[in-house]
Amino acid sequence: MYVITTPVAMSAWSDAHRVAGRRVVLVPTMGALHEGHLALVDEARRHADVVALSIFVNPLQFNRPDDFTAYPRPIDDDLSVCRSHGVDAVYVPTAADMYPAGFETHVEPGALANILEGAQRPGHFRGVTTVVAKLFGAARPHVAVFGQKDFQQLAIIQRMTIDLDMGIEIIGMPTVREADGLALSSRNRRLTSAQRTAATCVPRALDRIAEACSAGERDTDRLIELARSVVDAEPLARFEHLEIVHPDTLQSLDTITDRAVAVTAVWFDEVRLIDNQVLSV
Ligand code: PAF
Repeated sequence: MYVITTPVAMSAWSDAHRVAGRRVVLVPTMGALHEGHLALVDEARRHADVVALSIFVNPLQFNRPDDFTAYPRPIDDDLSVCRSHGVDAVYVPTAADMYPAGFETHVEPGALANILEGAQRPGHFRGVTTVVAKLFGAARPHVAVFGQKDFQQLAIIQRMTIDLDMGIEIIGMPTVREADGLALSSRNRRLTSAQRTAATCVPRALDRIAEACSAGERDTDRLIELARSVVDAEPLARFEHLEIVHPDTLQSLDTITDRAVAVTAVWFDEVRLIDNQVLSV
């Protein structure tokens, strides 16, 4: 497995495979790899001949310095997980490689980035689109795989690749969950054991919506109330937002008529967890 640290070396690795007629796939991550990331790698391998995975904790997408500092960085473990999972190249640029002195160009996402997560975390998606564009620029993949847990991020990246004619196929992978329903996330490691137990209120709240929706409830205010009561019943949880939106436009719906997705963010002390559930009628 190659461990590559500079954009120039990353492009050289990718170009060599492209010239040889091989398809290159990139799995962008911020490290602290878990089963969810490995599911992305497995999916990646189905779409290409060689798999690159990037690990970079991107300062541009953190709107709280404490969250950036506390983000887990178990790089040795991550590299050994990649090695044993058959990743062909790991791209681990430093912040100085990514944002050298004089760096001043950003990718500005559109309206999709101003709502939901974007409204709570100003500048977050501008940081995501900028770093993903740079990762794409260095790794030059044919395909890239992202998790659907970051539902809005996925929609924004899909939009960016179309709008900027990047010619990269974007694949979204369903969320991988623990046995009790909690979505896998690198942030879960920062939960205390009591918070970890409490955090099941997030998937339970989303399940409550899905059940009520299957039973015929279509009014989103009533569905949100049901879910909110599940989170509010958990003393260690602090509800932030829950909205039911159209999966393409991400606009809030009053009534569910066809496709919809419930998206939520809940705090456990300093740890903010996000999750979502697609609703079918
Ligand atoms: O989803 C993530 O881990 C990050 O937002 C990404 C896409 C790697 C960009 O830093």
